[in-house]
Amino acid sequence: MPSPQSTQQPVNVTVTGAAGQIGYALLFRIAAGHLLGPDVPVRLRLLEVPQAVKAAQGVALELDDSAFPLLAGIDIHDDATAAFDGANVALLVGARPRTAGMERGDLLSANGGIFGPQGAAINAGAADDIRVLVVGNPANTNAYIAAAAAPDVPKDRFTAMTRLDHNRALAQLSARTGAPVTEIERVTIWGNHSATQYPDLSHATIGGRPALEVVGDDAWVRDTFIPTVAKRGAAIIEARGASSAASAANAALDHVHTWVNGTPDGDWTSAGVVSDGSYGVPEGLISSFPVTVSGGVLTIVPGLEIDEFSRGRIDASVAELVEERDAVRALGLV
Ligand code: NAD
Ligand code: LMR
Repeated sequence: MPSPQSTQQPVNVTVTGAAGQIGYALLFRIAAGHLLGPDVPVRLRLLEVPQAVKAAQGVALELDDSAFPLLAGIDIHDDATAAFDGANVALLVGARPRTAGMERGDLLSANGGIFGPQGAAINAGAADDIRVLVVGNPANTNAYIAAAAAPDVPKDRFTAMTRLDHNRALAQLSARTGAPVTEIERVTIWGNHSATQYPDLSHATIGGRPALEVVGDDAWVRDTFIPTVAKRGAAIIEARGASSAASAANAALDHVHTWVNGTPDGDWTSAGVVSDGSYGVPEGLISSFPVTVSGGVLTIVPGLEIDEFSRGRIDASVAELVEERDAVRALGLV
């Protein structure tokens, strides 16, 4: 149960794109304690573009009406410097979606115009313990742009969300094997949050047994599991007419909750983190890896054996990240 008597100072949580569909699924759960825990009061700082501030004010009215014991206050901004001032956690959800006729360079350029200034605002005024999760697509490269604009913030504080892909992989494996998700460990998403990502079961276990042995069908893994997970975002858009929102919000909560509270012994999660050169991923790229968390620090799981199939899949997704990085460099965005 939440503890309304908590004497802890509220944690400042800045959410961009607050009036959007992920924002609507996210903010109420943050206020309910699902981001940081049932005893941690939060102050929400909502950032929107000026034309959506009124809608954000409407969401704030509903947050007020929910009388959340942990919600210490709500501020609404259309200025990034004010929104990130003193932020402890920043969820960068708002992004420029791809529209008809838009080339990839246009998309990267439009998002550079959002994530560069937001990174600079984080650099200027966020709290020393700032943790940033980029959800807005293209998430890995947007995180790269934001981190590049924040030279005084340690790079490992900038992350991109692949927890939704990780959760999708758990769900698909659970459905196939009948094992509860709680028995599945060591699933990994490698690379970019895009259709090139590599959902990897080669180290996964189910109830302590190798997942590939339990599944016993390499063709299912290759031809069904991997494409289902990698293309799930597109399947949701096709079915719903809009991209995933509640599951994306849920994954953002999972990502930050794990970052703060740690991974269980023997297990790991997946997150887009800055590469230290591990597994042949060029240093500095924000790529998804298997990561453990202890004491609030994300660590790439070292020393995993990478077979030939996995090598090819990781390399293909990382090549896409390199292309995106080179494109934003060529556009002068970093
Ligand atoms: P949405 O269009 O419903 O909402 C986006 C909101 O961002 C809008 O209210 C818009 O006004 C706001 N916004 C735009 N520019 C902004 C800026 N500069 N500052 C502050 N706010 C700004 O979109 P959504 O469904 O909420 O999705 C948001 C993003 O998340 C999209 O880029 C989507 O592709 C991405 N996404 C990522 C994942 C993932 O797993 N990483 C999953 C689902 C969606
Ligand atoms: C998802 O994985 O659901 C989204 O990233 C899809 C999208 O393009 O918004």
